[in-house]
Amino acid sequence: MSTVTTDTYRSAFEAVDRILNREAEAEEVLRKSVDLLAERFDHYSWIGVYLVEGDDLVLGPWHGPEETEHTRIPIGHGICGAAAASGRTEIVDDVNADDRYLACFVSTRSEIVVPISFDAKVVGEIDIDSEEPSAFTEADREFLERVALLLSPHAAKLSR
Ligand code: SME
Repeated sequence: MSTVTTDTYRSAFEAVDRILNREAEAEEVLRKSVDLLAERFDHYSWIGVYLVEGDDLVLGPWHGPEETEHTRIPIGHGICGAAAASGRTEIVDDVNADDRYLACFVSTRSEIVVPISFDAKVVGEIDIDSEEPSAFTEADREFLERVALLLSPHAAKLSR
C-alpha cells in the first residue's frame, strides 16, 4: 500500500491544472499530464490515456518502460473495457485474480482505470498499472477522478 501524502495529491492536481492553462492542443495536454503523473507517483508504473473511437478504446499518450500490445480494446473487454462500459472507476488489487484482465506487462500486479466523461458520455479513460500489489487507494481514486474531470474537454476533442 502506498503512503502518498495529501500534499502530494494536491500539488500534482495543481500542476495538471497549470498544464491546462498553458497548453492549447488537446494531445499535448494529455501527453504532459500523463508524464506528470508518472513523475510524481512512484507507484504509477505505466500510465496511458485511452480515447473512445466508436466501439473501441484506442491508446493515446502513454508513459512507461514498455509499449503495450493493447493499443485498441473493444469496449466491454478487459478491465479497461469494463470501466468504459460502466462509466465507473475500476480498482483491481490483484490483476492475476481477475478474469477480465488483459495482460500487458508481467511486472503488473494491480491496476486502476478511471473513465473520462464529457456531456455524460465516456470519451476516454486513464489506465494505470502498478508493480505493487493493491497499490491504489481511495485517495488515488479521488485524485484521478478529479484529474479525469479536468482532462475531459480535451479528451472529448480527440474522441470520435
Ligand atoms: N490491463 C488492461 C489492458 C491495458 S494494459 O494494462 C496497458 C485491461 O485489462 O483492460
